Amino acid sequence: MMEVEDIKTIFIAGAGAMGSGIAQVAAQAGYRVYLRDLNDELVNKGLKNIERFLDRGIERGKVTEEMKEKVLSNITGTTSMEEAKEADFVIEAVVENMDIKKQVFKEFDEYCPEDTILASNTSSLSITEMASVTDRPDKVVGMHFFNPPQLMKLVEVVRGSATSDETVRTTLELAKSFGKEPIEVIESPGFVVNRLLVPFLNEAFYLLYEGVAKPEDIDKAVKLGLNHPMGPFELADFTGLDILYAVCEVFYNEFNDPKYRPCPLLKKYIRAGWLGRKTGRGVYDYSKK
Ligand SMILES: NC(=O)c1ccc[n+]([C@@H]2O[C@H](COP(=O)([O-])OP(=O)(O)OC[C@H]3O[C@@H](n4cnc5c(N)ncnc54)[C@H](O)[C@@H]3O)[C@@H](O)[C@H]2O)c1
Repeated sequence: MMEVEDIKTIFIAGAGAMGSGIAQVAAQAGYRVYLRDLNDELVNKGLKNIERFLDRGIERGKVTEEMKEKVLSNITGTTSMEEAKEADFVIEAVVENMDIKKQVFKEFDEYCPEDTILASNTSSLSITEMASVTDRPDKVVGMHFFNPPQLMKLVEVVRGSATSDETVRTTLELAKSFGKEPIEVIESPGFVVNRLLVPFLNEAFYLLYEGVAKPEDIDKAVKLGLNHPMGPFELADFTGLDILYAVCEVFYNEFNDPKYRPCPLLKKYIRAGWLGRKTGRGVYDYSKK
């Protein structure tokens, strides 16, 4: 059984936005980290992300040169699975695609020592389904970080159907050792945060669709009336309207409940290519800024 005190080496698959951020958090907490992606270019991109984040910390006086060197020396980039043989805990942060995640979990199961816990950072996919391709479903768990992992305090620790109490306990303890505030969640679409957030953002689109208020005023109402740092449309444009729509559809289909139906206006904007900041236009126009 893997206890948190036994964990020294963490292997992370996927060196994208989330994987690189999680690698930094683990390295800062003193763990030995392997960060894996598919080729050298992707691995280096992830390592550069970490370096840039630390440099910004130095500029703001929050990180010292020694701290930066220490964190970077704890992380080794790799394109192979061989190092997973040394891992006490692995975290998967590859693309949000079940077939690819299942392939990664099969590899984890093959390469990792039998006590190693296998965690996924998925936002929406089933932990139980990923666990089903391994010979250790009791040691498969969700470890859902928020973006950017270096700054966001919350981690949702997700219990799949077969996840053992020990696995959940060790994962909660590991998140705490990263300086995070974990909560335990039973596997369910959207866990806690996205289950609340996505219907809230969708409802903002219904307000706009019904002409109840202007988008700027809906954003203003939420910021000043609820003390949120961003309005719903600012946040939806930041996240991407296509992603919001896809999660609404997941809820609608998984629960078979019309209360989750995506707002038709959302679909109309997506058809126009107004996906948010990434396309220069969402609810707001960013093309001139
Ligand atoms: N971006 C967010 O806000 C956010 C928040 C919480 C959770 N997540 C989840 O985290 C995961 C990663 O998201 P992201 O935004 O970092 O994506 P990303 O596209 O930035 O990074 C994914 C990386 O995984 C790599 N990859 C693909 N297959 C791989 C494999 N077999 N082995 C190793 N690497 C592989 C890709 O090359 C890419 O570099 C997804 O499951 C996503 O749902 C994302």
